[in-house]
Amino acid sequence: MSVQSIAWSPSGAVRIVDQSALPEALVTRDLDTAEQVADAIRCLQVRGAPLIGIAAAMGLVAGLREHRRAARGVFLTRLDAMADLLGGTRPTAVNLHGALARMRARAAATTGDGPAVWERLSAEAGAILEEDRAMCRRIGEEGLRLIPAGGHVLTHCNAGALATGGIGTALAPVYVAHEAGRQVHVWVAETRPLLQGARLTAWELSHAGIPCTLMTDGMTGALLRGARVDVVLVGADRVAANGDFANKIGTYGLAVLALHHGVPFYCVAPWSSIDPATPDGDAIPIEHRAAAEVTSLQGRATAPPETAVWNPAFDVTPARYVTGYLTDRGLVRPPFAA
Ligand code: MRU
Repeated sequence: MSVQSIAWSPSGAVRIVDQSALPEALVTRDLDTAEQVADAIRCLQVRGAPLIGIAAAMGLVAGLREHRRAARGVFLTRLDAMADLLGGTRPTAVNLHGALARMRARAAATTGDGPAVWERLSAEAGAILEEDRAMCRRIGEEGLRLIPAGGHVLTHCNAGALATGGIGTALAPVYVAHEAGRQVHVWVAETRPLLQGARLTAWELSHAGIPCTLMTDGMTGALLRGARVDVVLVGADRVAANGDFANKIGTYGLAVLALHHGVPFYCVAPWSSIDPATPDGDAIPIEHRAAAEVTSLQGRATAPPETAVWNPAFDVTPARYVTGYLTDRGLVRPPFAA
């Protein structure tokens, strides 16, 4: 069974699986304020494009609990400040900004003071979570045809249950195939520097009883040249109107290798990850992260601390390398219009 990465706590806090503690421990945390949710997103306790959108929407509701009896003006001012804070945490995943825009629009369209608006926002955040869960399921069902019986899937980073409110995006077809009793095996690239493949994907697949094999990122070329890989399935943080897409650093190299070796390469994402307002990959804002993520590994230095470091968290894969875009609306092709 796949893991449930986010939920409401009985007291109305945002209950998350702390992904920074995996694979050593399965720890849940209750986040009571928008500040706590923003911190959790920044330090990747909560991560993955769809999940950070859901967490931000739920974080607004949790944070606004203490202001819910306020008059409309005060309530909306607090909402704006919290949405700005949450929206400033990570730039690349469009789901985060889409979910916050949806919450702001819902508040603006709801008449009345704090209590009425808060109730409506609470329902909206719940709807964002439920819709994501349903989108993941549909992606899984649509994607089943991409995995042959006894198939071998290669994936990068973590686009599974830990990255969404449901059974994931790139891993959703794998879960559905497994549920249907089909043999499936996943090659997992470890995903330097923060090891989302090793720490999270290998963990959640093993937790669900799905066979997987881990390798370092530098081994993927040799794998594609010498081993059986039927399909590459990766997630996306933002898909531009022309089909270029941003995903975890290392995805682009994998796409080039897949094309070279004639292995189909699919970008798998819910419709909420498509951003028609971003014309192409060059317009996607790419997050750069701290040098220490590259010069050390789990607290131990792996390079001289003064080493100059380049650490983009994402890269852009141009559309020409993509065999297809698997979404909850089936296989779609660019250009993507609003
Ligand atoms: O930095 P992260 O771990 O949030 O990056 C996540 C990814 O790049 C995922 O592949 C992407 O968000 C798709 S998640 C369904």
